[in-house]
Amino acid sequence: MIYVPLRGMATVCSKSLNLCLNFALLFVRTCHAWAGHYSPPPIESKNPSMSAIFLKRFFKNPFQVASIVPSSKTLIRRVSDKMDHSVPRVIAEYGPGEGCHTREIAKRMHRDSKLLLFELDKELSEHLKVQFADDSRVSVHNLDCAQLPEVLADKGIQHCDYVVSGIPFSILEKTKKREILEKTHAVLAPKDHSAFIIYQVTNELRTRGHCDHFGKAESEYCLVNLPPMFVTKFYKNGTNGANGSQ
Ligand SMILES: C[S@@+](CC[C@H](N)C(=O)[O-])C[C@H]1O[C@@H](n2cnc3c(N)ncnc32)[C@H](O)[C@@H]1O
Repeated sequence: MIYVPLRGMATVCSKSLNLCLNFALLFVRTCHAWAGHYSPPPIESKNPSMSAIFLKRFFKNPFQVASIVPSSKTLIRRVSDKMDHSVPRVIAEYGPGEGCHTREIAKRMHRDSKLLLFELDKELSEHLKVQFADDSRVSVHNLDCAQLPEVLADKGIQHCDYVVSGIPFSILEKTKKREILEKTHAVLAPKDHSAFIIYQVTNELRTRGHCDHFGKAESEYCLVNLPPMFVTKFYKNGTNGANGSQ
């Protein structure tokens, strides 16, 4: 009987904790910048105010955007290193935000690859559309990433090679989390390279068994990001299973 209120309280606590952490990070980064020790991740975009837009969207919708600053250059590199771009690929990105990972993926990927972006925030989506207007390989969808299967079907695409995600899974409802993870697994091509790549503050998708339907997983910890993040690659194929702590 007390299960539902307790679970509600736990969700509120976890969301509040996340919010507090982000404000603390904003404070730390500001102090470091003032002290001359911190240089923000370089933004190689046409629009120099992308970080400001991201921060503004965080204040507008903190539980959805869930971060006050874009990923660091090191984290971006580590995520992109997990994909093989030597041949044409179909890649989906969940929660590109202001596009820091997108720019790196677009820079590396094959000229015949396709990159589908799913960004819930309308203003961030509009900025992505402007940013990638000249790149016909990139399409921007102001939609929930759970709609990836429908978008693929509309485009006549059968499978993705990679799905990259920066959405805040840890604060999603359990049913929503399961829906996204099952659909992601289903759209990945049944090939050895096909993978779902996430960067998250916690590694709960792996350690709590949310991704046990994937074939195998590899994780690393990226300290050079505020906050530090796990980068985990869940392969569609494999026999070892994706559970385990590291
Ligand atoms: C933590 S930010 C990551 C931004 C960027 N990828 C980075 O590394 O700096 C999460 C982003 O995911 C978006 N988002 C959250 N839930 C989503 C969903 N279900 N579908 C698509 N985008 C979502 C938010 O609007 C936000 O821009």
